[in-house]
This record gives sequence, C-alpha cells and structure tokens, in this order.
Amino acid sequence: MSFKAPRGTQDILPGVTEKWQKLEKIFSDFAKKYGYNEIRTPIFESTDLFQRGVGEETDIVSKQMYSFESRGGEGLTLRPEGTAPTVRAVIQNNLISQGGITKLYYMGPIFRYERPQKGRYRQFHQVGAEAFGSTGPLIDAELLEFASNFLNELGIRYKLELNSVGCSECRPVYRANLRDFLKSKLPELCDDCARRYETNPLRILDCKVESCINSVKDAPYITESLCNDCSEHFIGLKQYLSVLKVPYVLNPKIVRGLDYYTKTAFEFIAEGLGSQSTVLAGGRYDGLVKELGGQSVPAIGFAAGIERLIDSSSEKSLEIENNKIIYFAAIGENAKLIALPTIQKLRLNGIRVEYNYENKSLKAQLRDANRFNAYKVVIIGDNEINDGVAVIRNMIDSTQEAVALNEIFINITK
Ligand code: HAM
Repeated sequence: MSFKAPRGTQDILPGVTEKWQKLEKIFSDFAKKYGYNEIRTPIFESTDLFQRGVGEETDIVSKQMYSFESRGGEGLTLRPEGTAPTVRAVIQNNLISQGGITKLYYMGPIFRYERPQKGRYRQFHQVGAEAFGSTGPLIDAELLEFASNFLNELGIRYKLELNSVGCSECRPVYRANLRDFLKSKLPELCDDCARRYETNPLRILDCKVESCINSVKDAPYITESLCNDCSEHFIGLKQYLSVLKVPYVLNPKIVRGLDYYTKTAFEFIAEGLGSQSTVLAGGRYDGLVKELGGQSVPAIGFAAGIERLIDSSSEKSLEIENNKIIYFAAIGENAKLIALPTIQKLRLNGIRVEYNYENKSLKAQLRDANRFNAYKVVIIGDNEINDGVAVIRNMIDSTQEAVALNEIFINITK
C-alpha cells in the first residue's frame, strides 16, 4: 500500500522551502517597516465565526469549508481565510485601544475545498496584513503602497485593480438597481447566478460563465451610485495613490468573494499566472469588528497566496544563497574520534559541516563532498594522524595544505 498527499495539497520540499523562508522574511521585514506586528491564530476556529464573518451565502462558507465536529461536540472549521480569525483575536484580547491604530500581519496555511488546478489548492498558504482603527483613505493608500512594494521586491509584474463597493447606505440601493437591470436576463444566467440573483446579485458581476458575462455587459456600476461619504473616500484614496505613485486601474466589476467588504476593494493581478492570476487581494471591512461582537472599529487588509507569489516572482528575487559547507573526510575510527570535537566546534560557530557516519573509502567520501558542493574538505587518515596533521583541500581552486590537528578550527575560520 502506498500513500499520497491528499488531493489539492502538496509537499514543499528542500530546495523549495528555502524560497518560502526567503519570501516570508521579505514579507515580515516589509510588514514591520509599515508598523505591523505578527499575530498567530489557531488553524481551526468555531464554524460560526466564518458563517457570521465571511457570510453564509459566499462560496467559501456554503461550499468550501472543511468543517467537523470535535469529540466534545463543538462545530469547528479549518480556517478558510485569515481576516475573521484576526478580528476574533483582536476583540478577545482587547488589542484595539480607543482612538489607536492596531496593525497585524500573519502567515500560514489556509484550507478551502475547491477544484484543484494550477495555482489553486485545497491547502494553500497566505501572508496577510490587517489594520484596525482608521476611517480615512490614507491608511488604504498606505496598505496598497505596502502591497505594491512587496510585490515589486519579488519582481512580480502586476496590475492593481481598484474599486469601491460602497457601504450599508448605498449598496442596498445599488443592489436593487442591479436586480432591476438583471430581471429580464434571468433565463440566461447560470444556476449559481440565478441563485445569486436572490441572495447576492453583485457576485453575478464577476461570474466567469460566458452567458453571465454577456448579461452584465451593460449593467450599472456601483461607483455611479456611491453615497457622499463613500464617494469622497474613493476620491481621497485615488489622490493619495497618485502622490505615492502607486499605479492602478479602476475595475467597477470587482466585488470580492467575501461579504465583509465596504468601500475600498482591490485585486493585484499578476502576469503569466494563467486563470488563477490574483496574487494579492483585499479591502476595507468597516462593519466586521462590530458584526463579530466588538466595538464599531473600521479596518482594512489584504492577503496573498504564497504559492502564487512564488510562481510569479522573478528567479533572482528568491535566489538561494549557497550555504558554505565544509566536508570532513575522516578515514577510520581513530580519525573520527579526532575529528568529532572540531566538527562540533565548527557547528557551534555557525558553520555547516557534513561527514560520513559509516566507514566509506576516501574516494567515496570525496564524491559525497562534491555532492554537497563543499567548498573545503578536511582529510584525516592514518598517515595524517601519524604526522599529527590534517589535509585541508580547497575545492574551488584545488589547492591543499597540511595543518596541525589542533589548528584545523583556526585555519578554517581565519
Ligand atoms: P481571498 O481573495 O479569498 O481573500 O484570498 C487572498 C489570496 O489568497 C488570493 O488572491 C490568492 O492569491 C490566494 N488564494 C485564494 N484561494 C486560493 C487557493 N485555493 N489556492 C491558492 N491560493 C489561493 C482573503 O482571503 C481575504 N481574507 C483577504 C483580506 C484580508 N481582506 C481583508 N483582509
């Protein structure tokens, strides 16, 4: 019998994990520069949190959650996104001070039962950032600048698509207008959109089915019916983005697949990723903290899929620096006993050392040294022990020298 990783999941193997580590470091360094501190929330949360936070009618909640009952009978769900858990943690731990700004970032696995394809997995990973406590558009602009600079650092070529999805004042009016417009087109809509017509007609705008795309071609845009507050916010955001030189295009069809968004909504679309090309996305969610039991606190955030970031990043940006490896070719038990304390000391001083645990010949050990791409090999055999020396071979220029056994460490670290 043989086992495989579950469909839609993948092993991240040595040689690739180094890229992940580098990406995570680039992200956390950026986040800190913009004032974000790291939060780590549980991998599973109560199912109600997502039903309430993300919305019962969304695809994520209605079709994609990994939900289960614990042995104690609690309804739990593997997190399908990071925003609702962050909001839950912020409320539970009182992280928002009156009038203050709280900025948090996170990284980790996310679970969605989706149809797997390139760039779309059932277990994937996000880096994300959430900022609480500011109503005005400056924080939106700063967050978008942070996201753009992060993608620039990874050498990703992208387009930022921007929209405003209104608020609880203006969206119901728009929803009614859109429904009126779509009424005569109902027979042409796909089954999902026929249902969305009742539950969430805005989602019809970004359906990928041909007949639905045709049906919404001349639909009214939400940006035409924003209330004064949302409209001014959007104008302010665009002005700040121009000053910060963050390029964007307006896309009034962006609605996002999660129900919590208000005002600003955006997606960064990367070049060369095929159909799953949104690398980073997010928006403002001014009602969510209250919805989940906290004070009324405005917030905005984004998340990016690490797999998609890695696929679209430039070769150079995540290049792995070669680890400098020293190989110890100790031939025979006596040589090993002499070599071990030095090997230990080198490692404690931050140097990576490899050696052979069995009794391989010198030739076989030199082959290993090559496989490890060692830049220096220390050879100790019976002859060397008799002479009280070790031979240190420089693998780069093929020179070698004999050094006293008690001077190996000094010689290598000089
Ligand atoms: P989202 O658009 O659902 O937003 O996901 C964000 C990013 O996660 C996507 O742009 C994509 O890069 C990646 N992603 C999503 N699904 C998959 C998948 N099945 N396989 C691989 N990558 C995927 C959110 O999750 C919101 N919580 C973002 C946010 C934060 N909004 C405000 N704050």
